[in-house]
Formats: sequence, C-alpha cells, structure tokens
Amino acid sequence: MKGLILAGGKGTRLYPLTYTRAKQLIPVANKPVLFRVIEMIRDAGIDEIGIIIGDTGPEIREAVGNGDCWNVSITYIPQEAPLGLAHAVKISRDFLGDSRFVMFLGDNVIEGGISSLIEQFADSQYNSQIVLKRVPDPEHFGVAQLSESGEIIQLIEKPKEPPSNLALVGIYMFDHNVFEAVEAIKPSWRGELEITDAIQWLVTHPDYTVFPYVHEGWWIDTGKPTDMLDANSLVLEELRPYIAGTVDSSSTVDLRVIVEEGAEIINSTVRGPTIIGKNTRIVNSFIGPFTSIYHDCVVEDSELQRCIVLEHSRIIGVESQLRDSLIGRHATIKQNRRKPHGLIMNLGDHSRLWLP
Ligand code: G1P
Repeated sequence: MKGLILAGGKGTRLYPLTYTRAKQLIPVANKPVLFRVIEMIRDAGIDEIGIIIGDTGPEIREAVGNGDCWNVSITYIPQEAPLGLAHAVKISRDFLGDSRFVMFLGDNVIEGGISSLIEQFADSQYNSQIVLKRVPDPEHFGVAQLSESGEIIQLIEKPKEPPSNLALVGIYMFDHNVFEAVEAIKPSWRGELEITDAIQWLVTHPDYTVFPYVHEGWWIDTGKPTDMLDANSLVLEELRPYIAGTVDSSSTVDLRVIVEEGAEIINSTVRGPTIIGKNTRIVNSFIGPFTSIYHDCVVEDSELQRCIVLEHSRIIGVESQLRDSLIGRHATIKQNRRKPHGLIMNLGDHSRLWLP
C-alpha cells in the first residue's frame, strides 16, 4: 500500500500562528502534527508516501525532506490551488498507480494509530474503507447515514440538518477505482471536488463496496486553537515520560512529565502530563498539567496550565496564571512593573487576548 498525506490549505482558523507556519507543522506535545501522521503511516508498514503541498510547500519540504529520518520515501505533489480532497487524489494518480492507498489529512490526530485499520483494509475485498466517529457537531464535517445493519445509505458534506452524528474522519482507504469516481463528480457549492461525493459515487455504483469503520477512541481535526489544546492534552496522556534534562533538588516534577535534553527545571513544580522541550529553562514557576513548552523557551516566576508555547518564547514574572493559551514563536510575555501600569501590547494580526 501507499500513503497520501494532504498538507495544503491556509489554516486561517489558526491565525496568527499560521501566518508564518504551515498548520501541519504546529507541534502537539512538541512534535508537528504532520510528523505524527508520517509516523502513523510508517508504523502501519507503508514506506512510500506522497505529500500534497500548496502555498506552504517550501516550508513543508524543508521540515520533512526526503523522509530518510523516518525510513520512508517522500514524493511531493504540488496542488495549484485548494480545489478539494478529491482533486488531490486526481493529481496523485501517477504517484499512486494501481496501489491500494490510505489518504490522511495532515492535521488529523487519532488515538491508537492506523495499523489495525490498514491491516483490515489490505486483506479485504472492499474498494474503499472510511472511518467514522460520533461527534456532537456533525454539521461541520462530512456525515454518514448507516442502515440498521451497518451499511452506508448516504454520505453528505457538511449538511445543515445532519441525518446522524457520524462524522467522516480525515482518514480514507481506496483502491484504484477511486479515480473513476473523482473523474465522475462535479465541484460542490464551495467550488471543491469533495472526497465525500467521490465516496458517495462508489457507494451508489453497483460494482463497488465501501466499508464504514466506526472508531471508538478519540479523534481531533486540529483546525481551531481549542482543537490544538484538546489534541495536545490527549497526546500528552499517551506519551511515555522520561527525564533527559536536569531537575534541581528544590523542584518537584511528577511522574507523567517529559523533560527533554538540555532542559532545566529550577526551583519549580511541574505537574504532568506535561512536556518541557530541549534547552528550555523553567525557573521559580508552576507548569501543568496538560502543557507543552517547545524548545529554547524561558519561563520564570510564572504559572502555566493547559498551554502550548512554541519555540524561543519567554514568559517572565507574569502574576496571573496563564491557562488554555496558545503562544507562538519568539513571543514575550512580561509583567510590567513600572508605572503607569496600563497594559502594553504588541499583537500580531488576528491575535486574540482575553483580559481578566
Ligand atoms: C474535510 C472533509 C470532511 C471531513 C473532515 C475531517 O473537511 O471534507 O468530510 O469530515 O475533513 O477532518 P474540511 O477540513 O475540508 O472542512
């Protein structure tokens, strides 16, 4: 089998972080989501992976390279505009050939990986396998309606009145017959060739079968800041803790904490699950739970809970606890101790700030 990862898109709902960085490269538990996706595909035994890239292509190529560090080979497939997931399949035809393949959206995070799903599909006669998850807000996704015996009745992209709460997860498996489907469908109201419509085409075609797998673990499409924080919490809970950096004798670091190489914890308390990145310094502070601080940061005399902090940021002497926050790269947050005491800000476009 082959793998196809979609890593185009602008990530507007994650502005301002995605002004300067592809959304798939934003880390969850200190590892870019895209790297997690590559690892899941590799761990399922697939070593030929195509990555669809758009405007942020150069950055993705630089971060992922030729795949050597994961022992996989990567082929980049540029998409000239975000014309839809089925369009992405269309332009990957040369790369995919006649192989069965898994298509994985580069911003999806799923519990437990995909090895068993791939195994099941590889051994089956199905032409396609989809993954469904019960969600509270199906209108934001592709939605599947199943019969009582579990067969697919219909699939609809972002219906106003969803016929069920089963959302299509961004992980799809196909054989080469999907190319007939993507050629047959027309663009949707949003001007995109929808993969949901292509699968619906396979469902209605008498010669093809599509198997719906209902996933019971967690799944997050990391489109919005709150999704990033949720995914971060869930992934942190799955990681095996270790301490490679240093923790001084006046600090308390509990069992579910990762302290990466070169990180220093000084006179601080770190509550897990939490990860402290390479060469980051935590001084006189309280961190966690559910917090990821990336590499080369400094946190001094501050408290953080359920936050993601990206590389080279500094949080110094902040009296209020920071919680549920996403802080970008090279950001500085400092207490202003001089009068006048007003708030001083230097925020990027589309930044959001909640004052107490
Ligand atoms: C896409 C699919 C949708 C699916 C979702 C999963 O939505 O079109 O069917 O449920 O991914 O993440 P989009 O991210 O394009 O809004």
